[in-house]
Amino acid sequence: MKQNLAVLGLESSCDDTAAAIVRNGVILSSVVADQTELHAAFGGVVPEIAARAHAEKLDLCIEQALDAAELGLSDIDAIAVTAGPGLIGGVLSGVMMAKGLSAATGKPLIGVNHLAGHALTPRLTDGLGYPYLILLVSGGHCQFLRVDGPTTFARLGSTIDDAPGEAFDKTARLLGLSQPGGPSVERRAKEGSETRFSFPRPLLDRPGCDLSFSGLKTALLRQRDKLILDQGGLHEHDINDLCAGFQAAVRDVLVEKSRRALTASDRITGFAVAGGVAANSSLRDALHDLSSQHDLRFVAPPLALCTDNAAMIAHAGAEKFAVEGADDLTLSARPRWPLDTNAPAALGSGKKGAKA
Ligand code: KG4
Ligand code: ZN
Repeated sequence: MKQNLAVLGLESSCDDTAAAIVRNGVILSSVVADQTELHAAFGGVVPEIAARAHAEKLDLCIEQALDAAELGLSDIDAIAVTAGPGLIGGVLSGVMMAKGLSAATGKPLIGVNHLAGHALTPRLTDGLGYPYLILLVSGGHCQFLRVDGPTTFARLGSTIDDAPGEAFDKTARLLGLSQPGGPSVERRAKEGSETRFSFPRPLLDRPGCDLSFSGLKTALLRQRDKLILDQGGLHEHDINDLCAGFQAAVRDVLVEKSRRALTASDRITGFAVAGGVAANSSLRDALHDLSSQHDLRFVAPPLALCTDNAAMIAHAGAEKFAVEGADDLTLSARPRWPLDTNAPAALGSGKKGAKA
């Protein structure tokens, strides 16, 4: 088999349309067209609007990715595409495009699990060796995965309701801060006191690595409404303190559950974190410290590769292709596709549609 395959990756499972080319672990190009503006008026991702925008933008993204890599379609050796989990209209747009390209060019087609794309990113960015533990933490995902190989994963725990990014976004909305909520809340938290308001640390009283975040926003809503009732409104320092207290609760829960997941993981080469919430410096620093306490390498990929992108799909596709070969044109788009088929179904959905 030819070495150094140039793999075209396509991603369209949520609200980012993306195309990228990766060859031998090197990103030759990565194009992401986000749809934030299209959904802004609706307070969340509208699946029909997302699917239409993917169908309209995919070919443009592919052209841009080929141009940036200075390659033509004939130079591509394989086509990898997110085949799930995600919003089905968007996933279908990508899968249909990939099948069309594969049928027209005769290049192998590789269906990739979106979560595998995230989970294998530390190998693309840092060459992390198997097995390792990763925390996926974003607006749509929150789970601990032990990664044993390109298609071998064990889920140690996951959210039973909201994803943390979703909780950050709702918190920002409740406090009149701009979206996406994570960066706004983090900015205000830096100015505030973590201890003025007490927030719960959900599920810490229960064994295991499952998490819950929906109670935190309810706690925030109560504290906010009490302040408004008592003093007729919110001062800037109240908002700062509420943000700091909320962020500390999310961080503490994630750190404690990470500690348990690490304790339950033998012989791993490192601990990684990925997803938009991994941009949070308070969380990143705490997870870095935790890894040091366990004498483990800590990997937090650059943000552009933590959030949704197609380079991770191209890379995961290349790894999958090497062990399992190609899919055929019967490849189907899957709204749900758990990485670990032995783990019980996760109840959490996340604002960006049911994941796995
Ligand atoms: O991975 P991502 O771009 O998209 C998916 O959810 O798939 O993650 C976006 C989420 C948003 O909810 C956003 O508020 C959150 O990541 N986020 C943050 C920060 N930056 C982005 N949350 C906390 N702190 C941040 N600095
Ligand atoms: Zn994602």
